[in-house]
Amino acid sequence: MIATTDVDIAVSALTGGGVVAVPTETVYGLAADITQPAAVERIFAIKGRPADHPLIVHIADFDGLAACAAEVPAAAARLASAFWPGPLTVIVPRRGDLDPTVAGGRDTVGVRMPAHPLTTAVIDRLGAPVAAPSANRFGAVSPTTAQHVLADLGPFLDPQRDAVLDGGPCRVGLESTIVDCTVDPPQILRAGAITGDQIDAAIERAHAPSSGPARASGMLPSHYAPRARVIVVDDRDAANSAVAAATTAGRRAAIIDHTDDLVEYAHELYADLRRLDAQGYDEIVALVPPAHGLGAAIADRLYKAAGPRPS
Ligand code: TXA
Ligand code: MG
Repeated sequence: MIATTDVDIAVSALTGGGVVAVPTETVYGLAADITQPAAVERIFAIKGRPADHPLIVHIADFDGLAACAAEVPAAAARLASAFWPGPLTVIVPRRGDLDPTVAGGRDTVGVRMPAHPLTTAVIDRLGAPVAAPSANRFGAVSPTTAQHVLADLGPFLDPQRDAVLDGGPCRVGLESTIVDCTVDPPQILRAGAITGDQIDAAIERAHAPSSGPARASGMLPSHYAPRARVIVVDDRDAANSAVAAATTAGRRAAIIDHTDDLVEYAHELYADLRRLDAQGYDEIVALVPPAHGLGAAIADRLYKAAGPRPS
């Protein structure tokens, strides 16, 4: 059986060169031992992910950052001490002896310390950090339960070598905030549960928005996309009109709205998208919250889910 709640099974799968889907507070990650290049390569193959899209290295203690970074910029040190373990990734200069495959060939690397006891125990017992992107096929909605992982990646995993560690539903439900600390001022490459204001307070200055072409793959126009067409609207009237227009045209449409509770919105969004897809809706009409605080991360994912699809 590929799904387990046993940390030791997960560790022996990783030691043996397998990949293991691990729970974190954000979304499930597809992990491999960073010291085993062949295992890291399998992450790209299983996800269908282009080789130049860098992975995030997940660590269990603060020494792990120094093990990955050629140097730790002051902003990265402040962010790590303020928010780790937690939903924040720092981009730092990559150490020369860290496998470049992990970093998609870049001279920088993303590092984070996730807040989930099972995954902390896995990294601890393995004795090495793990590289882990979200445990979904490339471009699809990230998984927030072990069942989501099995539905997406089950056919691509090897039951003899790989495992899915079930740690329950993810607490936050959206991917980590990514801050590039190799530029001055630091840039937020991806919004997440750690907000822009929290970052500014920790680094004691104002961050910059991201610049440059597609700094993070999550910045491609279409990402986090379900099968159904996603329509983003501002208010309930617009949502009802969109559903009425779909119905008139013979299409089935459903509404997603948790704008009265953004923590719940973040927690439920990906599960909602998956459920409505499974129920065969043609269109998903989502109410967008104001784009500040946690609302910025939710709005970002909604617009990406609604973005133009590759043909
Ligand atoms: O919450 C999360 O961050 C989850 C969990 C599993 O930890 N992970 C996650 O990984 O979302 P992934 O691979 O789906 O998204 C990581 C993003 C990608 O958009 C990637 O391009 C960007 O981080 N990234 C990683 N390393 C980078 C680097 N050195 N420079 C710029 N972007 C980087
Ligand atoms: Mg992802």
